[in-house]
Amino acid sequence: MLTVKDLKDLKGKRVYVRVDFNVPQTNGVIRDTNRIKAALPTIQELLSKGARVILMSHLGKIKWKEPDPEKIEAMKKANDMAPVAKALAELLPGVKVSFCPATRGEELTKAVAALNDGEILLGQNTRYEKGEEKNDPELAQIWASLADVFVMDAFGSAHRAHASTVGVPSILKAEGKPVALGYLMIKEVENLTRCVEVKAEDRPYVAVLGGLKVSDKIKVIDTLLNKCDYIIIGGAMAYTFRKAQGEAVGTETAERTSLTRRS
Ligand code: 3PG
Repeated sequence: MLTVKDLKDLKGKRVYVRVDFNVPQTNGVIRDTNRIKAALPTIQELLSKGARVILMSHLGKIKWKEPDPEKIEAMKKANDMAPVAKALAELLPGVKVSFCPATRGEELTKAVAALNDGEILLGQNTRYEKGEEKNDPELAQIWASLADVFVMDAFGSAHRAHASTVGVPSILKAEGKPVALGYLMIKEVENLTRCVEVKAEDRPYVAVLGGLKVSDKIKVIDTLLNKCDYIIIGGAMAYTFRKAQGEAVGTETAERTSLTRRS
């Protein structure tokens, strides 16, 4: 696959970069900017080549099955991308970072058209669109029409076939436009390759796993069981394992679906 390093002649080109800016925030204050920092090498490479960078990401969850429209609006408000744009601008002094609160329509097309070479536009939370998680082709077409090039750097979302992760690059690829991997994707794929192609000098091989959702990681854990000497489970998902072993976890989160699915 093409990588961001291979991309040439980007002056004046609109580059749609799918990043994973799903960062923790409380009342509009970002508590951890690591995911934003992880995307900077790709963003800086594109800026240095004169690209017009359009960043798109999801943030949190919008439960579209919720029947009460007011609750949907509250979820949207809690997952507004505006504070992320502010945090990104602080990490990139001297670079113009704009934010577009719309996910489609004239406001978005105008914001993209107003971009100059070496500038960034961060789009609103992709999950403000009901069609995002369904990989809705109409939505993907709207976003694809904004771009000349696609770069995938959302490693944390690469397992999701959503409109912004799969729909957009599929359309651009079919149109003969460049589709490339960003530096974070490359780094993480290299790291993962080392985890599954274990060499004798890597032993003893100890995997330390954290996070919340066991359901997302259970296949990885199954694979690692055959390769690792030890697996250490940390983070919030440790409570799901402890609960499955019959231990009390108090008020801590245990993922019910994983508990019922696996013995
Ligand atoms: C994550 O934080 O695990 C990724 O950003 C994916 O988020 P999601 O599970 O809400 O799709």
